[in-house]
Formats: sequence, structure tokens, C-alpha cells
Amino acid sequence: MSLISLKNVSKIYGEERTEIRALDNVNLEIEKGKIITIMGPSGSGKSTLLNLLGAMDSPTSGKIIVGGRDIGSLPERKLSSYRKETVGFVFQTFYLLPNLNVMDNILIPLIPYGIKSGNRKRAQELLDLVGLGNRGESKVGKLSGGESQRIAIARALINDPKVILADEPTGNLDSETGKSIVELLLKLAENEKTVVIVTHDPRIAQAVAEHPLGTNIWIKDGQLSEKPTYNMFCWGE
Ligand SMILES: Nc1ncnc2c1ncn2[C@@H]1O[C@H](COP(=O)(O)OP(=O)(O)OP(=O)(O)O)[C@@H](O)[C@H]1O
Ligand SMILES: [Mg+2]
Repeated sequence: MSLISLKNVSKIYGEERTEIRALDNVNLEIEKGKIITIMGPSGSGKSTLLNLLGAMDSPTSGKIIVGGRDIGSLPERKLSSYRKETVGFVFQTFYLLPNLNVMDNILIPLIPYGIKSGNRKRAQELLDLVGLGNRGESKVGKLSGGESQRIAIARALINDPKVILADEPTGNLDSETGKSIVELLLKLAENEKTVVIVTHDPRIAQAVAEHPLGTNIWIKDGQLSEKPTYNMFCWGE
């Protein structure tokens, strides 16, 4: 059974006459430990899809089943534990807090629950995993873009989520640095995380497609396809 299953999912913003179908009857199955890229033009519904997977927003219709649970029908209390335990987010602009050091930035998602002594050990293991084991005490303002994104990935992993959702994780990085971030995300999939990457960069889609765990999907006007079409990235009439 798939870890993530979307069945006839639509997300409509606005009222009848001004409605925007950000997602239009989307069906998608993602198995555990797979890594997928989602590519499509600006406004095609990529972030909307990630936000629904992360339970940051709810669908207008359809079902989103993650780990056997229909997240569209969970009460708010269960949704917050879903967000805490099941998903980790990575963003284009890192969202690190400049006044905290690296270690404390990784621990941020735990603040609402109270930071325990074992958590620092776990944060150090994650720092080692992302290749920055000796930078725990550094100020984040001094880090490069690639280092900042590695820290953001470690932060996304602190609760040991099953799913990593990355919205343009390499959008602010040069291509070499971006490649190393994709390699890190591929390593996570090899370690049984399920990874969903929204990207505008065809090189990232290619790196994922060439990996045995990887798949590319495309989206246009809120509808998914398994193959890109030539006019997908063109301007409208
Ligand atoms: N909160 C909202 N209220 C109204 N419309 C919204 C809202 N969020 C997104 N939309 C609209 O839904 C559509 C899909 O937006 P979305 O942010 O998912 O696109 P995207 O593919 O992530 O684009 P980009 O590549 O520019 O980030 C767009 O037309 C957008 O204007
Ligand atoms: Mg977006």
C-alpha cells in the first residue's frame, strides 16, 4: 500500500465567480521511501499540493491518506500531532532564526513540547548526517546558502518524520550547491524517508529520475501528468 494516496483531490480558492482551481481532481500514489519531483509553471498548484500533504491546509474535496489516516478528516488536535510526527518541511528561503546558533535552530520544532537532554544528541547526529558536525555552535548568519539549507534539512528531520516536503529547496542556491542538496535528499530516501521536492530546475528532476527510488511528475493548471508536454511551460494564448 502507498504511504501517501491522493484520491480525487481538488482545492478551490475564492467564491463561485472568482474561483481558482489550484488543484483539479488530483490522483497520486507515493510509496514509502520514494523520492519524487513535482515540476510545473508558476501558479500550477505545486505549493498548494505540498501544503495539503503537510496538513497546512485542507482540500475542498477528495481524500488525502497518509500512513493509513485520512488527514482531511482529522480533528485539529490530531492534525498538530500529524504535522509534528509525520512531516518535515524544507523551504527555498531556509527560515533560520539569525539570533540562535545552528544547534538551537535545529531544535526549534521541539520548543512547544519542551527540549529534553536526548534531543541535543539527536540534533548532533543530524548535524553529522548533513555534513556539518562541527558547526553546532556557529551563528547561522555566518553560514553559506548551502550550509543554511543543510541546517534547515536537519531541522526538518528532528522529529524523525516519515515524509520530507521540500518547496524549491535549491531555488536560492548555485547549481553545484543545489546538486549537493539533492544528493542529501536522495540519501534520505535511501534511508527510508519519503521525499517530495517541488522544483523549477530540470537538472534536479533529472538527478531524481536517474535514481532507482526517483520519479518525476508534472503539474499544469492543477492537474498532474506523468510526462511533460512541450507547451507546459509556455505562456497562454
Ligand atoms: N491562499 C490562497 N488564496 C487564493 N488563491 C490562492 C491561494 N494560494 C494559492 N492560490 C492560487 O492557487 C494557484 C496555485 O498556487 P500555488 O502557490 O500552488 O502555485 P505554485 O505552482 O506553487 O507557483 P510558484 O511556482 O509560483 O510557487 C495560483 O493561481 C494561486 O494564485
Ligand atoms: Mg509555489
